[in-house]
Amino acid sequence: RPLTVAIVGATGAVGVEFLRCLAERRFPVKELRLLASARSVGRELSFDGKALVVQELTEKSFEGVDIALFSAGGGISKRYAPIAVAAGAIVVDNSSAFRMDPDVPLVIPEINAGAIAGHKGIVANPNCAAIIAITPLWPIHQHNRIRRMTIATYQAASGAGAAAMDELADSTRAYLDGRAFQPKVLPHPYAFNLFSHNTAIDPETGYNDEETKVMRETRKIYGDPDLRLSATCVRVPVLRAHAAAVTFECERPIGEARVRALLANAPGVRLVDDRERNVFPMPRDASHQDDILVGRIRQDLGDPSGHSISLFVAGDQLLKGAALNAVQIAEHLLAA
Ligand code: A2P
Repeated sequence: RPLTVAIVGATGAVGVEFLRCLAERRFPVKELRLLASARSVGRELSFDGKALVVQELTEKSFEGVDIALFSAGGGISKRYAPIAVAAGAIVVDNSSAFRMDPDVPLVIPEINAGAIAGHKGIVANPNCAAIIAITPLWPIHQHNRIRRMTIATYQAASGAGAAAMDELADSTRAYLDGRAFQPKVLPHPYAFNLFSHNTAIDPETGYNDEETKVMRETRKIYGDPDLRLSATCVRVPVLRAHAAAVTFECERPIGEARVRALLANAPGVRLVDDRERNVFPMPRDASHQDDILVGRIRQDLGDPSGHSISLFVAGDQLLKGAALNAVQIAEHLLAA
């Protein structure tokens, strides 16, 4: 049965990718309703070769909608997701508004698609850095429980929206031209620089909000409240793919050959681990790809007990980190 699908934040960096994923994956769409702020009313976006006109998001936007994909920030989700649910829609929310709500499944389909069935109208899409860092580790966790992870991220501009991607390009151009550039979206100069993630620091722990999300959400998605984690999240001057260095410690000894074998056939993951040519996961190669690239798989020499492995991942923030994961969730809703 073809569905009526609404996209909230259709003009944003993730919104445009929702359109592309729905079309490419042949999602059965009867009507697609593109919603954004009053600023965008009348703008046309192309869906599957057809031009569709953007409408203003209002409380009346959800009549007759079956599935609503939200990516317009936490404030919009908090206000409008309950309205969409009351109108009979199922919401797949890309914001952090509902992720830790015990009534809301937090889903990476390769890991916990089964959790979707328990939804009460809202399913949350996890933090993009969490998705990209932990999707590849799940087959390992299944085989030999991971008891501790240390994650250092290298995060792209796209996670901060289309305006941040523009700021990266504009500030780089200004730098090369020797012109001054005043950052407007991000708190620090972005060209030829990197900085600690631009979310607030928790005064008690010293962790920023992005790091706290990665740690909390991983425990919820893995269904393992005892998993020990530490994250360091950094914004790097890359357009749309996040990377992460991950070291993890398993309950039993584990070797790199075993990890490589477990990842070789893992869904959503592609090995890029060519030591001879020194080719490993790069944001450039991960961009516009559905799969998360994994490589640099090696024994962690800092743990002589042989329980720990280090590796490096890169994944498209707008696809697996956001739109693709949400559309995969919608596909599971369809099948239910
Ligand atoms: P608009 O383009 O009309 O501002 P990004 O993550 O790339 O910054 O995109 C944010 C998305 O959220 C855009 O589609 C933006 O629409 C939408 N948005 C932001 N504020 C509102 C709002 N008050 N009402 C509806 N949509 C909004």
